[in-house]
Amino acid sequence: MDRHPPPHSRRFSLYQPPSYFSLSLLSIFIFSCFLSTSDAAFDVTPISFDEGYRPLFGDGNVVRSPAGDGVRILLDRFTGSGFISSDMYQHGFFSAKIKLPSDYTAGVVVAFYTSNGDVFEKTHDELDIEFLGNIRGKPWRFQTNVYGNGSTSRGREERYTLWFDPTKEYHRYSILWTANKIIFYVDEVPIREIVKSEAMGGDFPSKPMSLYATIWDASDWATSGGRYKVNYKYAPFVAEFKDLVLEGCMAVPIRQLPASGCHAKDAQLEARDFATITSSQRRAMRRFRERYMYYSYCYDTLRYPVPPPECMIIPSEKARFKDTGRLKFGGSHKRRSRRRERIPAASVSDNQASM
Ligand SMILES: *[C@@H]1O[C@H](CO)[C@@H](O)[C@H](O)[C@H]1NC(C)=O
Repeated sequence: MDRHPPPHSRRFSLYQPPSYFSLSLLSIFIFSCFLSTSDAAFDVTPISFDEGYRPLFGDGNVVRSPAGDGVRILLDRFTGSGFISSDMYQHGFFSAKIKLPSDYTAGVVVAFYTSNGDVFEKTHDELDIEFLGNIRGKPWRFQTNVYGNGSTSRGREERYTLWFDPTKEYHRYSILWTANKIIFYVDEVPIREIVKSEAMGGDFPSKPMSLYATIWDASDWATSGGRYKVNYKYAPFVAEFKDLVLEGCMAVPIRQLPASGCHAKDAQLEARDFATITSSQRRAMRRFRERYMYYSYCYDTLRYPVPPPECMIIPSEKARFKDTGRLKFGGSHKRRSRRRERIPAASVSDNQASM
């Protein structure tokens, strides 16, 4: 690995709970009705690719749309690819409409995330949305995760399916990070909220981050814990992005940010529609988490006998999970007899998730 590996080479910090279930298409259909909220689309102003981003790696596979308002990133047998925001942000709203590659995508990962791992190697912050490829006909799964100040030994993964097929249409995926909270959105549905608390300490991201979007070969863990590899017969795998949104306080990644520097921008961010969860959105979030979340570290009491401080234990959610944080029902696959650690070869310096 060179000094500036593509960010995917340190994705090893992710804990990989194996999946044991598949959600029937019928239930996806039924519950999609419950999730459509009447809330209007966010009031955001998209920017062009060149206004806010630049290729990160696999440049030839980063293809701008003719109008410049979108970009496609490709994985072929030679390389994955990715882009990065040109600036770093101290708090922000990071959002894009994304259409995922269709057909057979086992082993392919499409990641949309914020990080400062290139600047703060040992104390990096990171907020993840990661789509995990699948064998043909299976619903896409994805995970969210949070790291703060190098908390790579304390993964905070949640995994979900979706109430729609993300390869058919564009949907908006967003990460909001303010001084007080983090919200992950799928369209206008908040799917996860983390409210900052003193107990979280440095585990709540605190330093400027860039936005990254990447597509890469994660054959060794992405699909059923690595059972299904990328099959390049189906290449290139193409993830399409448009309506890119970057809002927040641009900041230089110095160690001590002047505390006053982002106050005005922070206040603007807090006043935006996506920074407040309405009561109907909150209901949609609860329904989403009851129907589509199939792993949560908060309910994985084998891993965290005491749930991390930000965990809000919701009885209607908890009832669905075993003490492994995985679903009680819905899995026809037999249980794996032992729990395995996933440490891709790229792992070199950081602590591993403990399992
Ligand atoms: C982050 O970690 C460093 C090194 O362990 C420590 O010195 C610093 O106080 C931590 N920062 C926060 C905000 O916890």
